[in-house]
Amino acid sequence: MKGNEGPERLIRSHLQNVQPYAYVAPLEAATAESGVPADRIIKLDGNENPYGCSPLVKKALMEYPFYHIYPDSEQRELRQALQSYVGAPFESIIAGSGSDELIEFIMRLFIDPGDGVINCVPTFGMYQFSTAAWGGKVTAVPRDSSFAIDVAAVKKAAGKGAKIIFIASPNNPSGNVTPAEDILQLLELPAVVVLDEAYYEFSQKTLVPLVEQHENLIILRTFSKWAGLAGLRVGYGVFPSKIAKHLMSIKPPYNVNAAAQVAALQSLRDLEYLQGTIKAIVAERQRLFDKLARFPKLRPWPSEANFILCSVIDHDARSIYQELRRRGILIRYFDTPLLKECIRISVGKPEHTDALVAALSDILLE
Ligand SMILES: Cc1ncc(COP(=O)(O)O)c(C=O)c1O
Repeated sequence: MKGNEGPERLIRSHLQNVQPYAYVAPLEAATAESGVPADRIIKLDGNENPYGCSPLVKKALMEYPFYHIYPDSEQRELRQALQSYVGAPFESIIAGSGSDELIEFIMRLFIDPGDGVINCVPTFGMYQFSTAAWGGKVTAVPRDSSFAIDVAAVKKAAGKGAKIIFIASPNNPSGNVTPAEDILQLLELPAVVVLDEAYYEFSQKTLVPLVEQHENLIILRTFSKWAGLAGLRVGYGVFPSKIAKHLMSIKPPYNVNAAAQVAALQSLRDLEYLQGTIKAIVAERQRLFDKLARFPKLRPWPSEANFILCSVIDHDARSIYQELRRRGILIRYFDTPLLKECIRISVGKPEHTDALVAALSDILLE
């Protein structure tokens, strides 16, 4: 078969031209480009945890004897352990292979081709990406000049029949938290509100207690950021009971692998250690902010997450990104209509901040 007679013609029409997700390039690519060895690269582009996971996780992964057996499809031990950490009942908690997978499950549950999804941009790219993959129609409602959500505009857009409203709080890439009053207003709408608290541990602000009172509120969380498990892929959601039941019934079996379940469980058993690293990151966030604010060409935005967005004034954000990359320091840059000339820097260890600031002084000639 050739040309449009081939199997490509059988691909669902809404997937013929989907934009791939703009993922963070692997370390090896940066090493190949810059010549800086992987262990000396300063990786501040993925909002990962520079301190890594708990030492108990490494030990438990070494000693786990059942890798040859399928993991518990119902994730009982993990969900039980999450109950007290999250403050929500067992039945309402469901884990995924990263919170990204839970976004996919939510789409699978609610979105028929053509259904509406509201996205408060600029924000995390998965909401747009997953909606497109499921044939939904995204209405992008811009945040205001301080990245607060425009509640009136969301309500207006929802009036046209949206099924899901996505809000990341703290938002990626701006780092600001959406106040509870705004979420409460959105919960009055006949739509499901997905509140993504991926960075909760760095903000300490959560609306989990509201899930029991609102049958249209879903909270998403992850072990990727605070627990240093991005590479193992484990996240969870807190769902109203009726939605949780349906979601459990469509979830593929064994979606969270055994290693991820072991690692997440051990993280919950080593909260003291992990809370120490969270504290270090929060303290370093302030130190990084103060240092960035001293550059006349940079305007850092206050952040309650583990990264800082910075507007670049009278300079090219892309060239800062490239110059840093050449020196083995990885950050993100944005130059889109909603994020003109911006860079986003994940909070690293103090020595990462120092190396970054020295390189920025050199690049910005200050
Ligand atoms: C707002 C937000 N939600 C979810 C995720 C992804 O989480 P996970 O690694 O659990 O898929 C990210 C990662 O950058 C994020 O910024």
